[in-house]
Amino acid sequence: MSDHSDEQKPLTAIERLSRRAFLTRAGAAGVATATAGVAAPLAAAAVVDSVSQAAQALHENSIPGTVPITLRVNGQMHKVEIDPRATVLDTLRETLHLTGTKKGCDHGQCGACTIHVNGQRANSCLLFAAMQQNKEITTIEGLGSPDKLHPLQAAFVEHDGYQCGYCTSGQIMSAAAMLRESWGPADSDVKEALSGNICRCGAYPNIVAAVQACRRNATA
Ligand code: FES
Ligand code: FES
Repeated sequence: MSDHSDEQKPLTAIERLSRRAFLTRAGAAGVATATAGVAAPLAAAAVVDSVSQAAQALHENSIPGTVPITLRVNGQMHKVEIDPRATVLDTLRETLHLTGTKKGCDHGQCGACTIHVNGQRANSCLLFAAMQQNKEITTIEGLGSPDKLHPLQAAFVEHDGYQCGYCTSGQIMSAAAMLRESWGPADSDVKEALSGNICRCGAYPNIVAAVQACRRNATA
């Protein structure tokens, strides 16, 4: 038979402490047990949430109407967001700030915007940037540097192959491609090969002299 007087008896301080400690531990264990089943789904939901927030932030930061693309220019990968109608020329100059490539006519008629795509010369004003992913683009900045001029750049300086200089990077990029193409040795071959590059200053004689000097040195 239970002793009621025992249950009614006030607890000592130590007894109260032990009971509270027990209840606290029991409560914590209960909470842990109860939440163990939902902790993993909650964590997964948090990850999904943060991923969708990041995607949303990216979407919100994007300029409406742009598309993300990756271009390889002068050996470097560039992730950019552009208007899907943007040309390579505008992307180089305005997005990547590679202003060595010049805009003349913007219609494929002057050659000022000549670059190399996979080693072939091309008018960058006629190419959609979004269609040049996975290709190797080379601009005048990738051909040589002020410290280490490409032989053609050095020849243009030596032979005064420019006046205003606006057509020069296009002329040099065309001439650099010509060095890899099959052309005869005559001046007329250089003129024909560079006929798509217009020089409004009329520096043609010196341009031809520069290219010929470079070709002679290359075959010497
Ligand atoms: S600017 Fe491209 S050909 Fe004139
Ligand atoms: S050097 Fe001026 S356009 Fe050619």
